[in-house]
Amino acid sequence: MKKWTVAAFKAAKGKRKLGCCTAYDACFARLADEAGVPCLLVGDSMGMTVLGHETTLPVKMDEILSAVAAVSRAAKNALVVADMPFGSYQCGDDLAMANAVACLKAGADAVKLEGGASVCGLIGRMTAAGIPVLAHVGMMPQSVNAYGGFKIQGKTREAADAVFADAKAVEAAGAFAVTLECVPPDLAAAITAALAVPTVGIGAGPVCDAQWLVMHDLLGLNEGHVPSFVKKYANLAEEVKRAFAGYVREVSDGVFPPSA
Ligand code: KIV
Repeated sequence: MKKWTVAAFKAAKGKRKLGCCTAYDACFARLADEAGVPCLLVGDSMGMTVLGHETTLPVKMDEILSAVAAVSRAAKNALVVADMPFGSYQCGDDLAMANAVACLKAGADAVKLEGGASVCGLIGRMTAAGIPVLAHVGMMPQSVNAYGGFKIQGKTREAADAVFADAKAVEAAGAFAVTLECVPPDLAAAITAALAVPTVGIGAGPVCDAQWLVMHDLLGLNEGHVPSFVKKYANLAEEVKRAFAGYVREVSDGVFPPSA
C-alpha cells in the first residue's frame, strides 16, 4: 500500500469512494491503517468519545496535538488530518496559523476547520503557507450553542443556498476537500456535483465522494445515543465488557494466573 497524499485524495473523486474515520490513539490508528482506511481524522469528537465531554467545545489544542502525534506515529499509509479545536482558529489568524503549523509539526498531513465564507481568508493563508486544509460546512458541532443543539442544517431553501455558497467559497479559497455534516442528501449531492474537490459526508447521504464515521460509532464502542445515520460494523462494547468481566471472574476464582 502507498501513502495517501492530499493529491491522491483529491484524484480519487469520481473514481473511488473513500471510507474514512476518526482515530485518537496509536493502537486504533494502526489497526485502521493496516485495514486500509485511507484517511484518519484526529477529530475534536475525541472530546465526546474519549474525554467524556458533552460537546466538542472543551477540547484543547494540546489534547489534539498529543493525539495527532500518536496517530501519525502509527498510521503508515493513511492521510492524517488534525481537527483544529474550538478556540484554536477563532481568536486571530496569527494564532490560527501557529496552531495549524503545530499540527503539521506533530505529524498531521493536513488540518480541518469548521466554517464557510468566514474562514476563507484563513484557508487561503494556510494553503499559501503549505498547510492543506479540509473544510467543514453544514452542521458544525463547534456551533452547537448557536444552533441550540446538534441539528440538521440546510433544510430550507435559504439555508440550503447558504451551505451551498459556503462549500463553493471554501473550495475557491483553496480547501482540498469539504466535509458536509448533517445536511439533506439532495443538497449534499448538488454540492458534490458542483465542486471539483471531494466532499466527505457524515449524515449527508450516499452521494458524497467519501464518508466519515466516528470510530467509536463504527466499532460499536458507544453504548449511548448514536446518530441514526451510523452503521455499527462491530459490537466491541459487548466484547470488551465480556473480556473485563472474564478477567475479574478468573482472578477472583483463582483461575488466573494459573498455578505453575
Ligand atoms: O471531530 C469529528 O469527528 C468530525 C467529524 C464528525 C467529521 O469533525
